Amino acid sequence: MATKNRSSARASTLDRQFGHPSGVMGSVVGYAMAIEHKKLHQAVVDRLVLSQEDKVLEIGFGPGTAVKLAARHAAFVAGVDPSMEMVLQAKRRNGPAIRSGRVQLQRASASALPFANETFDIVFEVNSFNHWDSKESGLTDVLRVLRAGGRFLMALRQGHGPSLESDLEMLAELLARTGFSQIECERHQLGHGGAFVTAHKPYKVTFSDLMLVLFLGG
Ligand SMILES: C[S@@+](CC[C@H](N)C(=O)[O-])C[C@H]1O[C@@H](n2cnc3c(N)ncnc32)[C@H](O)[C@@H]1O
Repeated sequence: MATKNRSSARASTLDRQFGHPSGVMGSVVGYAMAIEHKKLHQAVVDRLVLSQEDKVLEIGFGPGTAVKLAARHAAFVAGVDPSMEMVLQAKRRNGPAIRSGRVQLQRASASALPFANETFDIVFEVNSFNHWDSKESGLTDVLRVLRAGGRFLMALRQGHGPSLESDLEMLAELLARTGFSQIECERHQLGHGGAFVTAHKPYKVTFSDLMLVLFLGG
């Protein structure tokens, strides 16, 4: 019994470290994530279909491997993560791109993104959403920093229970309530399995747009 309790305590300490890496253990977990999530990061960046004009933001970048892949294709990649250990590790991994000004990594949370409105064409996150301190305010801030028509890609991991389907339903509702449109979910079998969720920031239709449509149409 005591052995079972000790091993479940170790497992939950490790789970906590994946969500909020800190100290020496956090750095080790960062290196492990860089290896374990390699295929998933490549699949996410392939899905983003980046062009040399795109300004991109990753939220909860962890070891910074997806940032590095995205920076090969985009004009500019920014990233935020509240873990000091992950910021240091990701900065080391992206040193040359940071020095050339194509990558900028900061210590910050999803719910207080340090960027002006409509800065990014694309925002993405990989396995970090479940750890955000406030999902509602995080999504509101993602919507704020995306340009109209911009895309948000989430890569969600299958949890320990069979709840991904209901999680996806709740997430789709939350995204719609926040103001996102064109919400699509697709299951994947990479790593522990999970789902990609894509959502868009809708274009604003102004009075002058309407007048122009009426004028051109009539
Ligand atoms: C499981 S790790 C995933 C790291 C990386 N995206 C990857 O795929 O390897 C979760 C990450 O989310 C970050 N995180 C935790 N709370 C956060 C928050 N409120 N806002 C943004 N990121 C957060 C953690 O610091 C950690 O780096």
